[in-house]
Amino acid sequence: MSIVSQRTRVGVRAEVADNKRIMAHVDGREIVVFEHRGRLYGFENLCPHMGGPVCEGKLAPRVEAVLDSDGAVIEERFDKNEWRIVCPWHGVEFKIEDGVCAADPKYRLRRIEANYDGDDIYVS
Ligand code: FES
Repeated sequence: MSIVSQRTRVGVRAEVADNKRIMAHVDGREIVVFEHRGRLYGFENLCPHMGGPVCEGKLAPRVEAVLDSDGAVIEERFDKNEWRIVCPWHGVEFKIEDGVCAADPKYRLRRIEANYDGDDIYVS
């Protein structure tokens, strides 16, 4: 069940161009909508860790370690197939695909469905 009670227009396509984000208040909640690789994402701007403005954080690809046969890290590299939003308060990372915390899946962001309708952007 969505945390947004009804379909609500929050902005237009140009407002999410060039990695910009739309911040809006819907049903008393602060939400953020952004586009990444041609897809819209929407979340409540409330970190489940300690209530920080999580959606003001940077997007970053997952970092993976490459290990040798003894388990020692020989290289770290970016996995650009999995992107995360990094909360600016304490650095907790959440996967943008589903909002689940990368380190502890019991924490997750509240997702909001965001879609284009022509050039308008709606959440529901
Ligand atoms: S409030 Fe977001 S990581 Fe602590």
